[in-house]
Amino acid sequence: MFITFEGGEGSGKTTCIKRLKTRLEKDGYRVLLTREPGGTPISEEIRNVILDKKNTKMDKRTEALLYAAARRQHLVEKVWPNVKAGKIVICDRYLDSSLAYQGGARGLGIDAVLKMNMFATEGTFPDLTFLFDIDPKLGLARIAKNQAREVNRLDLEKLTFHRSVRKTFLSLAKRYPKRFVVIDASKTPDETLDAVYKALKKRLKKK
Ligand code: TYD
Repeated sequence: MFITFEGGEGSGKTTCIKRLKTRLEKDGYRVLLTREPGGTPISEEIRNVILDKKNTKMDKRTEALLYAAARRQHLVEKVWPNVKAGKIVICDRYLDSSLAYQGGARGLGIDAVLKMNMFATEGTFPDLTFLFDIDPKLGLARIAKNQAREVNRLDLEKLTFHRSVRKTFLSLAKRYPKRFVVIDASKTPDETLDAVYKALKKRLKKK
């Protein structure tokens, strides 16, 4: 099973994923945690180029192509082999981030970015996607408080950019209602984890 977590900055998805892994392993599942952009040495190198605060000149199509390239390499080296080996692969961000950030907020268009990603992924969609939905004002305030997390090039975008990311994510949840579960990320970490765990167990039982 291939599960992805999506959401705006400071939505708390990364913390939740780590705790979810522990719970699932207690239940006897084999779980692999990974993230995008990154997750393999080549993809991590691409990540550094994309997120470097110095790269203010990066064109938006270049940005979209780099995310897709990192994604492709990560699928080949990590996601596909581990799903095949029977693990639950949980990925912190995937294709929907490109649709929301590059397609929506950067204005490249969802369908154009989807088309490019169909080439990169050969049509690999997650079995399940959790969208951590939060007002970007609240999310960005959380990041500002949490000094452990480094600010990257995309965090530096204006509030309107992050509002557009949120709006696009929510439209994607409507477009793919079977795949998406929307989580209210303004709740406490315990509450969000419970909501995710319950929804996931329901799906795992059906499998
Ligand atoms: P990261 O530090 O991993 O952020 P977070 O902890 O919020 O997941 O940085 C990833 C950044 O890249 C984040 O701002 C979202 C952005 N992004 C895209 O714009 N497009 C994509 O396809 C992906 C995967 C991420």
